Amino acid sequence: MKKKILNLIKKKNKSKIVSLTAYSKNIATILDNYCDLILVGDSLGSVLYNYKSTREVSLNSMIEHSKSVRMGVKNSLMVVDMPHNTYRNNKEALKNAKRIMLKTKCDAVKLEGGKKIYQIIKTLIKNKIPVMGHLGLLPQSDKIFKYKGKKKTEREKIIKDAKLLEEAGVFSIVLECVEASLAKDVTQNLVIPTIGIGASKYCDGQILVFDDLIGLNPINYRFVKKFANIRKEILKGVLKYSKEVKAHKFPNKKTSY
Ligand code: KIV
Repeated sequence: MKKKILNLIKKKNKSKIVSLTAYSKNIATILDNYCDLILVGDSLGSVLYNYKSTREVSLNSMIEHSKSVRMGVKNSLMVVDMPHNTYRNNKEALKNAKRIMLKTKCDAVKLEGGKKIYQIIKTLIKNKIPVMGHLGLLPQSDKIFKYKGKKKTEREKIIKDAKLLEEAGVFSIVLECVEASLAKDVTQNLVIPTIGIGASKYCDGQILVFDDLIGLNPINYRFVKKFANIRKEILKGVLKYSKEVKAHKFPNKKTSY
């Protein structure tokens, strides 16, 4: 197993894992010194391209963004989402995961689902492709976006799926929008770390979509805390620029050839 992955697993019960998404080099460069894990998430479909769902994201799009992110990531573990319809069977999953690994030089791929993709995950891992799991709310396949863990059957399924994924060999599992006590149960039941998004403080680590945390993406989900207001800063800069252009102050001698 890669050293970076082993180090991430070792953090369980010792220190919280810090993770964020990145879709480009400049952002990845800033995050790299502060994150244990950087995910090129297929959330880029809704965040950057205004798609209705992540189901519209293509493999090529993921690869191009990941190539950009790779240039900015030196220290963190870099994980790339396999988009919808790229891992419907073992053969397809292996071909596409190999392509992602080769083209992007990422450390691992992430797939959404439990029992249904157990064999697929095993195939990838057997072929030396490290895999991160993703349970709870599954944006690639869920029709309704609601937190998970209200119903007993739902809780039992997530606990079972988490154990199955661990047995298949994933090195960590993202828990998305999972009720707090369920996230706690899953986390305590596993040897590998859980990374939560809207899944309470009980997970071994946290992840947020970077554009959400800086207040660039105009959404208001309960689980998103806006740690910065970058829109305000951008507006300030753009207004200043606009004023200077109109006042013939920019460009001046210093900024001209
Ligand atoms: O696509 C994504 O950004 C994700 C995170 C929400 C975990 O999967």
